[in-house]
Amino acid sequence: MENPTGSILREGGGKEEEIYYPPSDVVENANLSRYMKQKGFSTWEELYRWSCENFEEYWEEMARRLEWYRPWDQVLDDSGKPFYRWFTGARCNIVHNAIDRHLKTWRRNKQALIWEGEDGSHRTFSYLAVNREVSKLANVLKGMGVARGDIVSIYMPRVPELIFSMLACAKIGAVHSVIYGGFSVEAVRERVGDAQSKVLLTADGGFMRGKIVELKRIADEAMDHSPSIQTCIVLRRTGHAVNMQAGRDYWLHDLLTLPIASTKCETVPLDSETPAFILYTSGSTGKPKGVVHVHGGYMVGISATFHMTFDLKEEDRYWCAADPGWITGHSYIVYAPFIEGATSFIYEGAPNYPYPNRWWQCVERYGINILYTAPTAIRGLMRFGNAWPSRYDLSTLRLLGSVGEPINPEAWRWFHKVIGGGRCPLMDTWWQTETGMFMIAPNPTTPLKPGSGTYPVLGVVADVVDDRHAAKPVDEDGFLVIRKPWPAMMRTLLNDPERYVQQYWRGEQSEVYFTGDSARKDAQGYFWVIGRVDDVIKVSGYRLGTAEIESALVSHRAVAEAAAIGLPHELKGSAIHCYVILSQGIEPSEGLEDELKAHVASEMGPIAKPERIQFVSSLPKTRSGKILRRVLKAKALGQELGDLSTLEEQLSLQQLSMLNR
Ligand code: PRX
Repeated sequence: MENPTGSILREGGGKEEEIYYPPSDVVENANLSRYMKQKGFSTWEELYRWSCENFEEYWEEMARRLEWYRPWDQVLDDSGKPFYRWFTGARCNIVHNAIDRHLKTWRRNKQALIWEGEDGSHRTFSYLAVNREVSKLANVLKGMGVARGDIVSIYMPRVPELIFSMLACAKIGAVHSVIYGGFSVEAVRERVGDAQSKVLLTADGGFMRGKIVELKRIADEAMDHSPSIQTCIVLRRTGHAVNMQAGRDYWLHDLLTLPIASTKCETVPLDSETPAFILYTSGSTGKPKGVVHVHGGYMVGISATFHMTFDLKEEDRYWCAADPGWITGHSYIVYAPFIEGATSFIYEGAPNYPYPNRWWQCVERYGINILYTAPTAIRGLMRFGNAWPSRYDLSTLRLLGSVGEPINPEAWRWFHKVIGGGRCPLMDTWWQTETGMFMIAPNPTTPLKPGSGTYPVLGVVADVVDDRHAAKPVDEDGFLVIRKPWPAMMRTLLNDPERYVQQYWRGEQSEVYFTGDSARKDAQGYFWVIGRVDDVIKVSGYRLGTAEIESALVSHRAVAEAAAIGLPHELKGSAIHCYVILSQGIEPSEGLEDELKAHVASEMGPIAKPERIQFVSSLPKTRSGKILRRVLKAKALGQELGDLSTLEEQLSLQQLSMLNR
């Protein structure tokens, strides 16, 4: 039976289910359908089964879609597992596929990037123009002493130069480490220090909600405590006065006028396992993890998944509204769309600036066909009502996407119906910084259930298991794991290979990758991701470690001890709630609560600003001193405390009564 939103309510296991079937023209024209026919399969299930049983063959086929300087000797080398190596012996460069190969075709004059500033300014770049900008920047980097293997830190606003900087590094075999422009001093210092970067690329500032984000000032403070930095290259974006330290800081526009900044620059052939970038992400300790991705396997994984899930057509205009500074931006703004020869659109600022029509105006103005965003943005825009989008022609949209956290069915339905007109399949893509590419995601032919990422993508074997890696029965919660390696997988953690082995593979003998998420599978094999099982909080889709927030708090003189937890929040998904024990002699006050919130924001960045801080006299802990955050969370939610059978946990129960003084 068809219901008003275009979905079919189907009887499944005795209960009615909401399932959305894709329009037949989308299915007919889908890249996946073409591939399925080419392989001689009549259903997706058969194709998927084949791709798992022959996953090396599948990925090898996907690798053949790209150009290599020298082919591989072996598709997968698992001799050093869990340090898997893909396409060994091959030589390649991701930038050759993202730019160079298009220059040999008509695509050289195709628009690669359309950018709109928050102030309404526009810039567009053809593939030829992107090549020119990237080559000049690459030559500047070389001129400033950047060599192969050097890690260059990039801390920039959402402007084309951020993208060009990343590509320039990869082109010359340097490794980029992008630090999200919303991060603050401590986060920048920590990442620059771990990577031991000699060069930092930044800007005088960025624009957000009409205000200047003081990137250079923050970078200055971070560089004061970053002895590795020798050179800071500064893009002029805002034009406001900033401090430039002679001998260290250089304006990019000055460097670009020098003879070294030639438009000719060779893309360096590299071994396929050469690192392309480091991206820091939060884990369960206070120290962010430097996730390492390489050129070869990464370009294969992201381009194949982009092709199958986002179904790019030559004439499409694609908009991923994430920030290039996160993995979503790395994989699905910068690399995969460029590799696939897409025309990408990016917008610099806030979705509701100056009014909540901004995004819909962009969709209409640029004729966007594919829009990929996050549940938090969808919820935020939904709040302003349907009148804003209804004034715009959104009929160009063909496909929608969501990423970053579970999407609640209400937001799913709104996005699907109000923005997608009920005709655009919504790709809810589950993946991680570590996986590099989509792992569980529909394709345009998949029947959709709001809130489920549906099935694993081709070549990926996911499962829901118990502690001993045994599959959980249907509809039961368990750990979400991946049972076979995939080409875009992280290779290690920078400076911490041991943590890579222990945290993700639970020891060297394991062949199962632990995602850190819990999930369940329903009777039709659909995956439903529930959330993190570790001490990671997803705030508006941003990943924050409780330990990082706690250490920002205790760096304030008034704080003796702190605990942070995530509690459900209507817009943000989760919001940060903190419990603080004050240093001796310090009295709690509202003013102090505000001061501490501002302190965390200035240490880590505005995204980490706690929603609430409660002053307490003790915290529930295990005997070994580990804070029992789940006890705090259960108490805050008024839930049963569950199994607290160990002595330590009983102890903490007593302490709980002392909370909320
Ligand atoms: O908990 C899952 C959640 O985000 C985590 C990964 O975060 P990050 O590395 O920052 O990467 C985000 C962008 C790829 C996952 O472990 N997550 C991501 N996408 C989804 C999701 N949870 C549910 N549904 C999703 N589509």
